[in-house]
Amino acid sequence: MSTAAAIPNATDWPAIRARFPIFENRTFMNSCSYGALSTDVMHSLHTYIDDRMEKGTDWAQWVERNENVRAGVARLIAAVPDEVAVTTSASQGINAIASAMDFNAERNKVVISDYAFPTNAQIWYAQQARGAEVVQIGERDGYIPPEAFAEVIDEKTRIVAVSQVCFRNGAKLDIPAITEIARQNGAYVLVDGYQSLGTVEFDVNEMGVDFLIGGFVKYLLGSAGVAFAYVRKDLVEKLVPTATGWFAQADIFAMDNTKYDPSPTARRFESGTPPVPNCYVAEAALRIIEEAGLAAIVGRIQELTTAIKDRAREAGYRFGMPDDPSKHAAMITLRSTDEHGLVAALEADRIVTSCRGGNLRVSPHFYNNFADIDALFDSLAKHRHLLA
Ligand SMILES: Cc1ncc(COP(=O)(O)O)c(C=O)c1O
Repeated sequence: MSTAAAIPNATDWPAIRARFPIFENRTFMNSCSYGALSTDVMHSLHTYIDDRMEKGTDWAQWVERNENVRAGVARLIAAVPDEVAVTTSASQGINAIASAMDFNAERNKVVISDYAFPTNAQIWYAQQARGAEVVQIGERDGYIPPEAFAEVIDEKTRIVAVSQVCFRNGAKLDIPAITEIARQNGAYVLVDGYQSLGTVEFDVNEMGVDFLIGGFVKYLLGSAGVAFAYVRKDLVEKLVPTATGWFAQADIFAMDNTKYDPSPTARRFESGTPPVPNCYVAEAALRIIEEAGLAAIVGRIQELTTAIKDRAREAGYRFGMPDDPSKHAAMITLRSTDEHGLVAALEADRIVTSCRGGNLRVSPHFYNNFADIDALFDSLAKHRHLLA
């Protein structure tokens, strides 16, 4: 069992930060790449190893961990557990959903955007072999507004598949507006929330999305190899994935190799053996998010990103994402003339960031503080020539 202490006060940020040992030797601002590792997660992973050493196999315990992750994800996004598939990657969930789509002549259009994480475009392009027609929307004046979606979503659109926050520049799409346009045209909406979940409040019912994808590598503070797909209740039984596996069947342990009998719940979007060690990780990671409280986390991130943007504006640096706080989340991007050189220069000052497509990505989470921001800007000032 985890030996970590409970967070004493939901807004006691220094106490929370102390549970992330990376800060003892690094200024870590790279949660958009890989969230920092907490002692809670470390202990939970050790528990998995201890359980295996002690008992060998313990399926009941493992199933419980898997179900705890499903329930925790459901709480995070205001869904019910039967609407959540626990997967090994975002790609696995998107593939299962795509495999259930009927791209017939009446409705075969798939609308995606330039803000898509590659997997959320490539999988849809792969559906061209099954009759899909893919339309990809680009930026206009540094953003992709809902109007750009309204121009292409029509009665032939089967699904609008978007990544809420762009992995490259941090821009955040207006999901409620896009969902409304899709709904008026009878199209499904799939949101890849991998770069936003854990930093924003996302109520699947309020947002009106049909599918929501996320994973534990980044702001959900877990590890690679565990992710999830939400499928709206009334769609679960209507959609029959053809990408499947034994853990997606109605009765897993019937071990019936004579037919396909998909689960009546969103488990039908799963596949093979669950990622058991990663479920230990995800369970502990979700617990930290819940203890800190999502509303408090959102507020904390807003304070931090506001401070980062103020400092960047004062220094005359250029943003890669829109400045408007409703159009970005935790990831702040700064235009760079040599983004790889800049990441390396910051790393030499023990500041961990990352880059994509001409942008330095600075991605704080609730565990960062204002001293981290001072350290970042002291270092950036030394490397001004690498900023656009
Ligand atoms: C927006 C977004 N979606 C998805 C992923 C990861 O997808 P997968 O779990 O299939 O590797 C990432 C990871 O970088 C991401 O940034």
